Amino acid sequence: MGSRWIKLAIIYLVVGIAVGLFMSATLQLKWGSAHAHVNLVGFATTAIFGVIYTVYPGAAKSAMGQAHFWLHNIGVPIFLVSTFLVQVQGMLDTAHIFTYLGGGAFGLGVLVFIANAFKNINDDTVLSSEQKEAS
Ligand code: HEM
Repeated sequence: MGSRWIKLAIIYLVVGIAVGLFMSATLQLKWGSAHAHVNLVGFATTAIFGVIYTVYPGAAKSAMGQAHFWLHNIGVPIFLVSTFLVQVQGMLDTAHIFTYLGGGAFGLGVLVFIANAFKNINDDTVLSSEQKEAS
C-alpha cells in the first residue's frame, strides 16, 4: 500500500529537481519557495507517509488510510500549483483559492493521518516477517 505513495513522491522529486535546475540556469530565484515546497511537501512528506504505510500496512488499508491517500494526493498538487501562482503578477487571488482548497485538503489529510496513527499504528501492527514473506 505504501508503494503507490512512494511512486507518486518520485514524480515530485523529478519536478522539484527540474525547477531547481531551471532556477540555477536562469537565476530566476523567485521560484525558490515553489521549488522548496515541491521537494519537501511533494517528495519528502509523501515519501515519508509511504514508508510509514509500508511498515504499518493495517493503517494504510484502513478507511482513514484510504481517506488520507485521496485527501493528500488531490490536495497536494492543487496546493503546489498555488506556490507557483503566487509569483505570477495578477494571479494572487486565484493562487489563494488554490492554496486554501489544496492546502485545506492536505491539512485535513494530516488530521486524518494523526487519528489513524493513534488508532492503527502500534507495536502489534508493525509489518511482520511472515507478512513480508507472504507479499
Ligand atoms: C538538482 C537539484 C537541485 C537544484 C539545482 C536546486 C537549486 C536551488 C536553487 C537555485 C535555490 C534558490 C537559492 C536562492 O534563492 O538563493 C534552491 C532553494 C532551495 N532548495 Fe533546491 N535545488 C535542488 C534540489 C533540492 C532538493 C532535493 C530539496 C529538498 C528535498 C531542495 C530544497 C530547497 C530549499 C528548502 C530551498 C530554499 C527555498 C527558499 O529559500 O525559498 N532543493 N534550490
